Amino acid sequence: MSKKLPIEVCFSPAMYHRFHNDEAIVVIVDILRATSAICTAFMNGASQIIPVQTVEEAREYKQKGYLVAAERDGIKCDFADLGNSPFNFTKEVVHNKTLVYSTTNGTQAILMAENSYKIVVGAFLNISALTEFIVSHRRPVVIFCAGWKDRFSLEDTIFAGALAERLLQEGQFTTVCDSTIASLDLWSIAKHDVLAYIEKAAQRHRLKKNGLDDVLEYCFTSDLAPLVPEFSNNVLVVEKYCENINNFYPNVNKLGN
Ligand code: MLT
Repeated sequence: MSKKLPIEVCFSPAMYHRFHNDEAIVVIVDILRATSAICTAFMNGASQIIPVQTVEEAREYKQKGYLVAAERDGIKCDFADLGNSPFNFTKEVVHNKTLVYSTTNGTQAILMAENSYKIVVGAFLNISALTEFIVSHRRPVVIFCAGWKDRFSLEDTIFAGALAERLLQEGQFTTVCDSTIASLDLWSIAKHDVLAYIEKAAQRHRLKKNGLDDVLEYCFTSDLAPLVPEFSNNVLVVEKYCENINNFYPNVNKLGN
């Protein structure tokens, strides 16, 4: 039997230098809300997304006529066309468009993860497609939680646990670090009622304070977006669109599945 492949979970961008692995598939996770928004934009037909690090870069793209989504601390930047709610990325707005995108944590993590075998975007919205993609590539996996300003976040960590659980069920993966085990343990507590569990999360309360928490149920719904966004040559594009995913995953819309 071939050697099992490691699944590691990085809880914060501040720790990523310890987890970087040229040979791995790196899964970027920012459930509230960047990676959920990216999946939504592609589901609604965006052709590519250019993540940029700074507000200044995003502003320059806007001046050149690009469609720009940008937020800091959850709030839409004044010059931007869109903020960071997945509900901003409708078909009417993004179909066949190139988007420029800058967020407080999520896009920063994407840009940090350069030079890995594959850099992909993960959310509950695409968890089955992502699992299938990872399994088919047979590589070590690093699940990179964007967190909040280098701090640990519950919503990204329970997603890491949910993804690790699915990968372990496939039989070819193994846990090699305590952070993966901790993620699995948290997920085992959260999965029975994800929305109730996430009431404890700091980002949930930041969003509420700013009147931006209408996306909670949506961001914790599984498999609305049967696709895998991949970061390659400085842009995000859809690597794999699983048209027939409902044939493979009959329970696709169950919360927390
Ligand atoms: C981020 O990228 O920091 C977040 O997704 C912020 C947010 O949407 O509030």
